[in-house]
Amino acid sequence: MSAPAITAVRDASHYSTAPARPITIALLGLGRIGSAVARRAREDRASPQPLRVVGALVRDVTMARPGAEEIPRTTDVAELFARRPDVVVEVLGDIEAARTLIRGALERRVPVVTANKALMARHGEELLGLAIRTGTAFRYEASVLAGVPFLGTFSARPLASRVTALSGILNGTTNFVLSQMRDTGAGLVETTLDAQRRGFAEPDPSQDISGNDAAHKLAILAWHFGLGSIAPEAIETIGIDGIDTDDVTAADQFAGVIRPVARIEQSGEGTTAFVGPAFLPRTDRLAQVDGVENALVLETDAGRLFFSGPGAGPIPTATTILDDVIEATRGGQPHAPVNRRGRVPVGPPATSWFLRLTARRLPPGDEIVGFLGSYGIWSHRTLTRGQGIWLLTYPCTRDRVEMALCALSAATPCDGYAIRALVEH
Ligand code: HSE
Repeated sequence: MSAPAITAVRDASHYSTAPARPITIALLGLGRIGSAVARRAREDRASPQPLRVVGALVRDVTMARPGAEEIPRTTDVAELFARRPDVVVEVLGDIEAARTLIRGALERRVPVVTANKALMARHGEELLGLAIRTGTAFRYEASVLAGVPFLGTFSARPLASRVTALSGILNGTTNFVLSQMRDTGAGLVETTLDAQRRGFAEPDPSQDISGNDAAHKLAILAWHFGLGSIAPEAIETIGIDGIDTDDVTAADQFAGVIRPVARIEQSGEGTTAFVGPAFLPRTDRLAQVDGVENALVLETDAGRLFFSGPGAGPIPTATTILDDVIEATRGGQPHAPVNRRGRVPVGPPATSWFLRLTARRLPPGDEIVGFLGSYGIWSHRTLTRGQGIWLLTYPCTRDRVEMALCALSAATPCDGYAIRALVEH
């Protein structure tokens, strides 16, 4: 008789009949994400141990917290730590307060989980260094591609994470807004309000629209994947607020879409990066990522890897945070990047461009093409509609595009607007 096949080996606690001790959680902040963490912890059925939120640090204990009314609230951090939580979850949003409180927890060797992008972009390496020195778990999986667990996987895979370039859609709100503009013809303000109602946007949605949120996430990815530490301010960052529905239609005519893209690349010439709305051909993997979905393409020496899934929203974010909580109580290891290059200078890349020129009386298209050509900007697609002309160019630098548009509007009154186009030639 053959032995039965072993199909799965589970955690030893799976076989124990003793009731598992709950994992206790202290929340720093009880806003939309904090409340979702509390709700999800209460309702969870899949965790190997029950999850119990023992208290939350808040600014105002009297404020209503829909869905999290039962959570004890305090304004006194010492009182919260006195409850001896197994893990501290930081969901404050604020940078300096979060940094101080996380440092306090790590110094007491209390594991910490955060989803704070702005904090991690600026002080992530410092906090990670403290976590490593004190041997305390410190996890930030929900800070990038909130609903897609991948950072932890790569921390444990030093060979797979030799990344030379990465590009992605790192902000759910702006991808949702641009997708809605294309699918429904609705404008920027209307679709941004919708994103807020659905809980995708930041408390200050200008952080999403301006590209700052995606720049923070790109900076985290840069050091996590060993491309170097980069100040988010050093990354060329353009908002989506210059895009109108005519641009979306023109992109469609060029067999493409406009997406909020972030990219960093390391080559013999140095490191280049940008964040902003970009034209992508429909065939590009990122062009097929719709709505609040986020995606990431990692270019490694072992091939291209593609990840996608929900990038924002209380439930995906809370789920990833709670997985980090469970993980943090297991091994005590912080997420750690596999290699580091220290601070690196970063510049804008040379790419193709998607240009729009509008005027009450535009010169004929071939005159515009000829004028831009005299500045070394050559187009391979043009489209004239109403009072506008759209062009797709061959690669050149931003300086050259800005100089040509400036000269053109001096020669013939018109408004020029340029976004990057990720087109292969
Ligand atoms: N406001 C962010 C977004 C939330 O829309 O992507 C997730 O980081």
